Amino acid sequence: MTRQEIALVTGSSTGIGFETSIALARNGFHTYASMRNIGNGRSNHIVNVARKENLPLQVIHLDVDNDKSVLDAINRIKREKGRIDIVINNAGYALVGPFEETSMEEIKAQFETNLFGTIRIMQAVIPIMREQRRGTIVNITSLGGRVALPLDSIYHGTKFALEGISESVKYEVDPFGIKIILVEPGAVGSNFWKNLKLAKTSSSDSDNSHYIQLTNNMSESFKQMEQNTIHPSEVASVILLAVMTDDPAFRYQVGKDAVMLLETRRNLSDRDFENFIKKQFNL
Ligand SMILES: NC(=O)c1ccc[n+]([C@@H]2O[C@H](COP(=O)([O-])OP(=O)(O)OC[C@H]3O[C@@H](n4cnc5c(N)ncnc54)[C@H](OP(=O)(O)O)[C@@H]3O)[C@@H](O)[C@H]2O)c1
Repeated sequence: MTRQEIALVTGSSTGIGFETSIALARNGFHTYASMRNIGNGRSNHIVNVARKENLPLQVIHLDVDNDKSVLDAINRIKREKGRIDIVINNAGYALVGPFEETSMEEIKAQFETNLFGTIRIMQAVIPIMREQRRGTIVNITSLGGRVALPLDSIYHGTKFALEGISESVKYEVDPFGIKIILVEPGAVGSNFWKNLKLAKTSSSDSDNSHYIQLTNNMSESFKQMEQNTIHPSEVASVILLAVMTDDPAFRYQVGKDAVMLLETRRNLSDRDFENFIKKQFNL
């Protein structure tokens, strides 16, 4: 690198965001590891690693749900460094529950973080990158942004939407030297599983849920998925590779499960894929 590049990562407190911030800093990017909660020791771990290794990493506050928080963080980076080269839109969580029994409030909150949060960041950094005539935005979607399983409809909605938006915006910003990249992990062993939000209506009144059988089946499958995860650092390595490559691909799958399921999806008709999923998950 001739000039030190400036990177921003959202959701750096744990998991993929944590590992990606460290990987970028270890590779010479001045990295703003952002998180929505800096107090209560949430940032200690990343700060300690950065100090020990003398990494160019600083923690900043950024809640992707909040307009002011996003603008404050991005303005601060612009003020301090004069530019933003790389943005990793990673912050997110999964809402789980039968579609019918999920409240609008929960649905809006899920879209607020996973989709509108990413849109907010993109709209704030694109003008900066456009002026620079250079920049890379990596959106962490998911295998769940390409194929859908039951009880995850709203999460899939956010990730499918982000895939579509990214695919469209890519053409708009390409003439200004801005790259958009999608990273689609399969199951990753992070706090994601602990942070899953169960739709309240069905979880508080589970005996009366109309989807109890399906929920029981799927919770077994989710447990198995959770036991067959890759380490978040594997996702970080792919992100690093994507941002350091001159001519990156648009989509990167991470994990054998993601590669294999998408391969299966490509090779089957809608009907055959539906039957495959039903068989796979005992539906
Ligand atoms: N793990 C998987 O199996 C998997 C698979 C495919 C895709 N993904 C995607 O990968 C991304 C990272 O997830 P992960 O696996 O690393 O899970 P994770 O360990 O739970 O990390 C999620 C991060 O997002 C942050 N976050 C949540 N809401 C936020 C908000 N409003 N503003 C700022 N930060 C917020 C969390 O902060 P707090 O610590 O404050 O909660 C945390 O730092 C997500 O977009 C997820 O959908 C994960």
